[in-house]
Amino acid sequence: MKVPKINILDEKHRILHQKSEEVKFPLSDEDKKLITDMMDYLECSQIEEYSEKYNLRAGMGLAYVQLGKLKRIFVVVNAKDDGSFEKYVVINPKILSFSEEMIYVGEGEGCLSVNREVEGIVPRHARIKVKAYDMDGNEYTIRVREEVAIAFQHEIDHLDGILFVDRINKNNPFENIENMREI
Ligand code: NI
Repeated sequence: MKVPKINILDEKHRILHQKSEEVKFPLSDEDKKLITDMMDYLECSQIEEYSEKYNLRAGMGLAYVQLGKLKRIFVVVNAKDDGSFEKYVVINPKILSFSEEMIYVGEGEGCLSVNREVEGIVPRHARIKVKAYDMDGNEYTIRVREEVAIAFQHEIDHLDGILFVDRINKNNPFENIENMREI
């Protein structure tokens, strides 16, 4: 696989703090190509051979706004235990329901647009049910859990101009940790 050339914006860019707009179908060929490139990029970033050779930070999700485009599109690529990858294209997502149970990433969340160490945890729902559209404009409903649910919530936040660091209480970065499960 070739690592696609994509330019991921840093959090200092104001666009990352803006709300993205609903997408109209059909998508252009350019959009379809970009979405495929984003997934290929994430897959490469999770394969050691590529991440070392090209100095890529491993990422699980990427939103359009991180490439400077204010459209409600994101992708998530999740490595499975058997070495294969689950890929999700999520367009115009709506969260239909979520678990009361809250979880957090013990080592802290990361973001390809946040290039610094950040202390603290981000409360996320352990399971969510989402309605969205695929690249061809077909509506679907999906239930996701654990790390994939966290990735979805992190990316949906991007579409609303919210970064994970915005969800950490600066005065008490581990607030409420006792009421959540670590993953
Ligand atoms: Ni991010």
